Amino acid sequence: MTPTFFHIAIDGPVAAGKGTVSRLVSQRLNFLYIDTGAMYRMAAYLAHTNNVSYEDETKIVELIEGSHMDMRNPTEEERDGRLTTVFLNGEDVSWKIRTEEISQGSSKVAVLPEVRRVLVEKQQIIAKGKNVIMEGRDITYRVLPNAQLKIYLTAKTKERAERRLLQLQQKGFDLTLEKVMSDIEQRDQRDMSRLADPLKKIPEAWEVDTSKLSIEEVVEKIVAEVEKIRSSKS
Ligand code: DC
Repeated sequence: MTPTFFHIAIDGPVAAGKGTVSRLVSQRLNFLYIDTGAMYRMAAYLAHTNNVSYEDETKIVELIEGSHMDMRNPTEEERDGRLTTVFLNGEDVSWKIRTEEISQGSSKVAVLPEVRRVLVEKQQIIAKGKNVIMEGRDITYRVLPNAQLKIYLTAKTKERAERRLLQLQQKGFDLTLEKVMSDIEQRDQRDMSRLADPLKKIPEAWEVDTSKLSIEEVVEKIVAEVEKIRSSKS
């Protein structure tokens, strides 16, 4: 019998909790967690550190193709609040790709169709033949259109901004709620209005609004749903 692999695809706007929830679900189910946003962030980081404009599609694709991107679960020594350890050409860039500059840059390079094409290809190769939980903006309909469970994870903008502000303050950044909210709105706007594979909720995706739920409640709901689907198929 051919083994069947379970794919969970999650899309949703900035700071809806996709990363935290996916990491915890992956631990509960022993699935591989893949943060596809980290790959767009690496593309922006490559452009930024090589003085290439975020609009220069050809050069950015060249930079991606000439680089090695690797991601893994953080080891014991690496547990400093990161959800995933990200290597670019052997260098640990886990935190370097989380700056405001790179956050904005990543949503700019993500509008470029060729950049998306090469990154989607890499994502599909990573997921092949494995149980995975993959999160991003186009996973439910482009990267893993055959996923057994498709989720659109969302929360109200103010809720998302408050959570993000708290995370940033814990890291020592001094920002206002208004600034965080306007950065989130700008990125959402760019992610939802781009021509190439914008962020959207597809009709068959299960919408989970996390505004009034704790992280544990969201994780519980998803794990229960996976178990339900698995038992109905066995
Ligand atoms: O999830 P994140 O904030 O780390 O993602 C960074 C940017 O990358 C985000 O603004 C949109 C883009 N992105 C995308 O276009 N498609 C994905 N599958 C994942 C992220």
